[in-house]
Amino acid sequence: MLKKKFLDSPGLANLWYLIEPVLISQITIQQILSRIDIIDIVGGFVKLRKRGSNYLGLCPFHNEKTPSFTVSPSKEIYKCFGCGRSGNAIGFLMEHEKYSYVEALRWLASKYDVPIEETETSPEYKQQQQVADSLYILNGFAQKYFSDTLFQTEEGIDIGLSYLKERGFREDVIQKFQLGYCLNRKDAFAQVALSAQYSPDILQKSGLIVIRDDKPADNYRGRIIFPVHNHSGKICGFGARIIASNDKAPKYINSPENEIYIKSKILYGSYFARHAIDKADECLLVEGYTDVISLHQSGIENVVASGGTSLTPDQLRLVKKYTNNLTIIYDGDAAGVKAALRGLDMALEEGLNVKLVLIPDNEDPDSYVNKIGPVAFREFIANNKKDFILFQLEVSLKDAGSDANKKSGVVNRIADTISRLNKAEDFTRQQEYIRQCSQLLKIDESGLNALVNKYIRDRISRMESKAGNEEARASEQASSSTLILPDDDSFLLLQRDEMNERAMVKALLEFGTRLWDDRQTVADYIFEEFESNGLQELIDNQDLLRMIESFRGWYKEGLDPGPKNFLYHQDIELSKLAISLMETAYELSVNWKEHYEGPIPSRDDLYKEEVFSTVNYLKLRKIKRLIDENQRDMEKTHSPEEQLTLIQTHQHLKQLEIELTRNLGTVIFR
Ligand code: CTP
Ligand code: MN
Repeated sequence: MLKKKFLDSPGLANLWYLIEPVLISQITIQQILSRIDIIDIVGGFVKLRKRGSNYLGLCPFHNEKTPSFTVSPSKEIYKCFGCGRSGNAIGFLMEHEKYSYVEALRWLASKYDVPIEETETSPEYKQQQQVADSLYILNGFAQKYFSDTLFQTEEGIDIGLSYLKERGFREDVIQKFQLGYCLNRKDAFAQVALSAQYSPDILQKSGLIVIRDDKPADNYRGRIIFPVHNHSGKICGFGARIIASNDKAPKYINSPENEIYIKSKILYGSYFARHAIDKADECLLVEGYTDVISLHQSGIENVVASGGTSLTPDQLRLVKKYTNNLTIIYDGDAAGVKAALRGLDMALEEGLNVKLVLIPDNEDPDSYVNKIGPVAFREFIANNKKDFILFQLEVSLKDAGSDANKKSGVVNRIADTISRLNKAEDFTRQQEYIRQCSQLLKIDESGLNALVNKYIRDRISRMESKAGNEEARASEQASSSTLILPDDDSFLLLQRDEMNERAMVKALLEFGTRLWDDRQTVADYIFEEFESNGLQELIDNQDLLRMIESFRGWYKEGLDPGPKNFLYHQDIELSKLAISLMETAYELSVNWKEHYEGPIPSRDDLYKEEVFSTVNYLKLRKIKRLIDENQRDMEKTHSPEEQLTLIQTHQHLKQLEIELTRNLGTVIFR
C-alpha cells in the first residue's frame, strides 16, 4: 500500500507523512547527520578501547565476558561478532535506547546543539495528529480517574480491589500496570470528563463513553480497567473486564480502533517487557491481560499478550525489534493452539525461532503460575519448550493417522516449511530439522533432503521466471556482454539485472554530484537518460526505485543526496539497502595493460565508465524488451504494410542492440 502510493506520486513532498511523520526538516536532518561521530555516540553507552583501526567493547545487547562488540569509525557502523547485531549510529540509539528514528534525531540534535527546523505538514496530517494527541491526553486522564476510583472509592475498594486481591494480584503490580475500576453507574465518568472540557467527539472516539438514549453513558460500567500502553508507555486504549460472570455481557470490552488504538500493531505489555526481552533474548507470548500481569508478579517480565488472536505481521515485526526467539505459551485447548499456529509460517520466513509451550488443560498461564508458583512455572517452561516445526509435524501426523495419502501430504508440507528456512545462516538448522523430521516421519533422511531441495529449486525458478525471459536471452549473450557473476554464495540468487541496477544506484549515490561533462552532473545525465528512454520502468527492485526517487527529490531541492544520508535514511529498508550497497564492491574491469600504462586506475578515476556502462546495460534491456514486443506484433499482424514497418523497426532495434552491446563497459561484481 505504502509502496504503491509512493510510486503513484513520486517526489519528496509526500515522503513526510507516508513513511513516518517526521516533523524535522531535511536540512536539519542533514546537519545532524553531518555531526555524527559513531565512536562518540556509542562510547557514551559502551566502554570502548581502540584496537587497530576499530574500537572494541563489551556488547550491550547480550551478556559476554570477552569483548566482541566492534565499532568501525570509517564505515560508521557497529557490529557484534557474538550476537550478530549491527547497524549505524542511529540504529544503535534505536536499538539501545529504543528510540524511534525521530526520537534518535532529536536526541542527537540536542547533543550537538543543532537547532531543529520543523517542516510544513499537510492539513490532514495535522488534523490526525491533533486527534491522536487529544486521545492520549484523554486516556491519561481516564486512567488516573479509574485508578483513583479503584483505590479511593468505597465501591472501587469493595468490588474492584477486592476482586483483584482475591485473584492474587499484589498492590505494587496493580499500580505498575495502572489498573483501575469504573463505577457501576450510568454516566459517572462521562460527567467528570465533560465538565473537564473533553469534547464529546473525542470521548466517543476513545470508546470510553457511548451514546445511549441520546445521552452520553459510560461504556465500561462496573468493570476492571486494564490500560493498554503503546511501546513508549503512553496509553492508547483500554480493556475492561466484567467482574461477575454474565451470560449476556461480553467478558472484555476493548477500545474501538481509532487514531491511536490499532489492534494489529499492539502487543499488550510490550512497554513493560522490552528491557527484559532484550536481556533474556527471548519473548514469551501469552493470550491475555491477566497472564501478562501474573507472570510479571512472578518475576517473569519478558512477556507480551496478543489478545487471543493470531499474530499479525506488524506484531511479529514488533517482536523482531527485540529478539529472534519467540516462545508461545498457550493453553492446550485446540482453539488456542490453532490460533497460535496460524500465521506462523511467516514468522519462520522472517527468521524467528519459534517455540511452543502448552499449559495443562483447563489452565492458563495466569492460573497455572498461581497454582504451582513461580519457581516451578519457570522450570515447566524450560522443560516443555517444543520446537514449533516439530510440534506442527506431530499434530498433523496424529491427524493423518494411517491414511497414506494424508501422510504424503504431511511430508510435502513439512518439506515446504523447512525449505523456507533457506537462508545462509539457517543452513545448519535446516539440516537438523531434516534429520529430526525424517525420524518422526520414519522416512529416509536423504529422501527428505532431496524433497526440501526440490522446494528450494522450485522457489528459485519461480523467482527467475518472474524476472522474465530476458535472463535466458541475456545468458545467450554472455560472451559479448561482459558481466561476470561472482562465486560468492550470497549473490547466487541475485539476478544479473538486479546486480546491474544495484551497481547503477551505487554509482548514482557515490558519484551523482560529480561532473559528467561541462554541461551537467552525473545525476543530470542519468535522469535525462531515464526520462528520454523510459528506463525507470525497467527497475524491478522497488527499494532501488524508491532510492532513486529519494535521491532525485533531495537533489532537486539542493540537499546533499550522498551515501551518508542514505545510510541514515529514516526508511529502514532504504537504510539497510544503502549499507548493503556500500559494502558491495563493484569494479570496472578494463584490460589494463592495453589501455593504460602506469598505476591501475581506481573506481574514482573511472566513475564515468561505470555510470555509462550501467546505464547502457539498462538501455540494452529496454531494447530487448522492445524487440520482443515488436516480435509479438509481427506475429499478430497480417497486413503487408504494417508488416513492413514492423520489420524495419526490428532492423533498427537490432542495430541499436549491436551498437549498445559493443559499447557496453565491463562491470565485475565482487
Ligand atoms: N478477549 C477479548 N474479548 C473477549 C474475550 C477475550 O478481547 N470477550 C481477549 C483479552 O485480551 C483476554 C484474552 O483475549 O485477555 C484471553 O481471553 P481469556 O482467556 O478469556 O481471558 P483471561 O485473560 O484469561 O482473563 P481472566 O483470567 O480474567 O479470565
Ligand atoms: Mn485467565
